[in-house]
Amino acid sequence: MRIGTTLTQYIIRKQQEVDGASGEFTGLLNDIAVACKKIADLVNKGALVNVLGSAGAENVQGEQQKKLDVISNDLMIEALACNGHIAALASEEMDGVYQLPEGARRGRYLVLCDPLDGSSNIDVNVSVGTIFSILKAPEDIEFPEVADFLEPGTEQVAAGYCLYGPSTLLVLTTGEGVSMFTLDRDFGEFLLTRSRVRIPEDSQEFAINCSNQRFWEDPVQRYIAECQQGADGPLGKNFNMRWVASMVAEVHRILTRGGVFLYPGDSKLKAAGKAGKLRLMYEANPMAMIVEQAGGAATTGRERILEIQPEELHQRVPVILGSRNEVERVTGYHLPAESA
Ligand code: AHG
Ligand code: MN
Ligand code: MN
Repeated sequence: MRIGTTLTQYIIRKQQEVDGASGEFTGLLNDIAVACKKIADLVNKGALVNVLGSAGAENVQGEQQKKLDVISNDLMIEALACNGHIAALASEEMDGVYQLPEGARRGRYLVLCDPLDGSSNIDVNVSVGTIFSILKAPEDIEFPEVADFLEPGTEQVAAGYCLYGPSTLLVLTTGEGVSMFTLDRDFGEFLLTRSRVRIPEDSQEFAINCSNQRFWEDPVQRYIAECQQGADGPLGKNFNMRWVASMVAEVHRILTRGGVFLYPGDSKLKAAGKAGKLRLMYEANPMAMIVEQAGGAATTGRERILEIQPEELHQRVPVILGSRNEVERVTGYHLPAESA
């Protein structure tokens, strides 16, 4: 589609390619875009509208909520609950499934979201984002339960994120490649600025939180040590390193110029009963779909993220994603023969 096409036009035209499409999915993407525009406005105004700082509460993940975590969650609910496009909603910020209000029309989709990713960065004015994943709701179920959301990532019908950075960008896949839209604030619309995004297969840039190094497993220790040895080591090339601490920003950099992002499992997380830090349903699955759709790869080190059968709504998993050849290399280091 032509660069400059509005997101609304883009999704309407996509709908016309599908026989018998009802317009519900188009409406749903539009609802999400509306929520993202409202969140973008508040993130942009920041202290002027008193949205920075802590909300003074913990979420179900045991993490301190920021005011904007709570507000962004409310804005997602407000945009999605009453338009008849979803059957239910689940979010990183809510304990269980959000059921629609009495009398609200039910739609055919389930939405999972991380309303504000990277929220530790809000108060320091660094990029944050909203991540979303869309599943088909089971037919004939009026009140979907947690079990109805526990589908592997391969079942996602769409995934995307909105990045609130110097520009506000909405990145979307419906399973036919990845497109990027930039918010024109004067116009109030997201305009198509890149389509058919491809992640370079090779890379010389890694992203990992090195403060956890002493807790990593051997395969991760090996890979990062080899990156650091640069041209003098077995990889034969020098690496650069980045860590924003907003997954949305890291994935966006990788979509733009390649790289590998790792948030592995480690002994500290394991001692706390967690397989990883990032959440399968709100972060890993949607990002894995986007990255794969752009030609990259996403694994836990041991399996493809999109094939994990979820067991819990708030399940955490190790994440390694980005440029295909680098992800395959690290994943190979996890194979028993290689890591011995
Ligand atoms: P959230 O703000 O939604 O809780 O997610 C933060 C995540 C992710 O975006 C980022 O990659 C990671 O946590 C950063 O973790 P560290 O602070 O441990 O580096
Ligand atoms: Mn997050
Ligand atoms: Mn979050």
